[in-house]
Amino acid sequence: MFMTLPSWLIHGALLCGVLTTTAVLAEPELDRQQAAQLLQAQQARAVQPWRVPNAVDIERQPNAVLIRQGMALLQNTTRLAGPLVADPGKRFSRNNLNCINCHEAGPSGLPGSKPYGLALVNAIHDYPRLDIKSMRVITLEQRVAGMFGKGEASMGADTPEMKAILAYLSWLGSEAQPGMSMQGTGLARITLPERAADPGRGQALFGQYCVQCHGAQGLGLKAPDFATGGGYVFPPIAGDDTYDDGGHMYMVPLLTQFIHANMPLGSTADTPLLSVEQAYDIAAYVNSELPRRHAPQRGDAYPDPAWRPAGFAVPEHFPDDPTGYQRVRFGPFPTPSE
Ligand code: HEC
Ligand code: HEC
Repeated sequence: MFMTLPSWLIHGALLCGVLTTTAVLAEPELDRQQAAQLLQAQQARAVQPWRVPNAVDIERQPNAVLIRQGMALLQNTTRLAGPLVADPGKRFSRNNLNCINCHEAGPSGLPGSKPYGLALVNAIHDYPRLDIKSMRVITLEQRVAGMFGKGEASMGADTPEMKAILAYLSWLGSEAQPGMSMQGTGLARITLPERAADPGRGQALFGQYCVQCHGAQGLGLKAPDFATGGGYVFPPIAGDDTYDDGGHMYMVPLLTQFIHANMPLGSTADTPLLSVEQAYDIAAYVNSELPRRHAPQRGDAYPDPAWRPAGFAVPEHFPDDPTGYQRVRFGPFPTPSE
């Protein structure tokens, strides 16, 4: 399939003189120097202000039907592509979460349109990009497929579902300038406390601020038609049906960023309901004391130890250093870079 590479990536690749545009795609694992140069090119992009198109604009697009299908897949992932849908060929997703449960909707209701709620407004312009988890350059299709996890059916680049999601993400980024990053996407930078996170304090705060919706065990609230693919009214943050122990959300710094700007429901980055300290301790509790699916391959992620993000805690990486493991798990952490 033909793909266009963003100019910042091509520039970065040519700058380091080791890759051609075609080699970028074929290149298996990059070494540290190659990766550093790509990352530098990625981070050197100018930042543009937050901009989301108006939902009514979808109807004016020649591919409006496809865009709406993509939007529906992000909103009702479980119902359309979850592990319990009737057609086994459509069971793309590994769990019963909807993409919009994490890539939250702003006031317009568009999935991925809430500032600092893991917004996807610029995703179409952010790829292909270096994925430090695999040390490879990946496409947006590969990123989306990775987000579905390994469901019963595989989400190939040529499936109608992938085309619909890409159509939605292209439209969502239609007000953005290519070649730039965007304010408000991803998660807000915060300064973490200069101490280890405290799961014990987190437990008490969890009871106060989270249990009413996510439940005492964090297992969420199932919809009445859950067994036939209806999903959850309140999504689980623990158990088999949510992010596993190899995912981004499993890292305490990232989960702290997410909670601080988005939870309890109604929080925003500008008007958070919890302090960073509270979000930090809750994140430690959620990710260490509640049950969760194990990702057996997680030890293979971030092959270069120098590139492991703060909070990516895998015991096998610390065979003789339990203190080092605890520190990577609970901090104190350097300030998150994204
Ligand atoms: C449990 C929470 C969660 C769910 C559910 C989820 N994501 Fe994500 N997603 C994340 C996190 C965390 C990141 C990484 C953010 C980072 O790299 O800092 C991410 C990153 C992405 C990106 C890359 C964004 C960028 O600009 O680099 C895309 C695209 C994406 N997700 C699409 C999806 C789709 C499609 C679904 C539904 C199938 C989905 N996600 C479900 C948490 C989630
Ligand atoms: C008033 C109900 C409510 C409260 C209270 C609440 N949440 Fe949520 N939470 C939600 C809903 C609803 C979503 C999905 C958002 C969406 O789909 O727009 C969500 C999503 C999430 C997610 C991402 C999706 C997933 O299932 O992994 C996490 C993590 C999370 N909440 C953690 C927390 C934590 C921690 C607290 C306590 C500080 C909390 N929430 C308090 C309703 C709530």
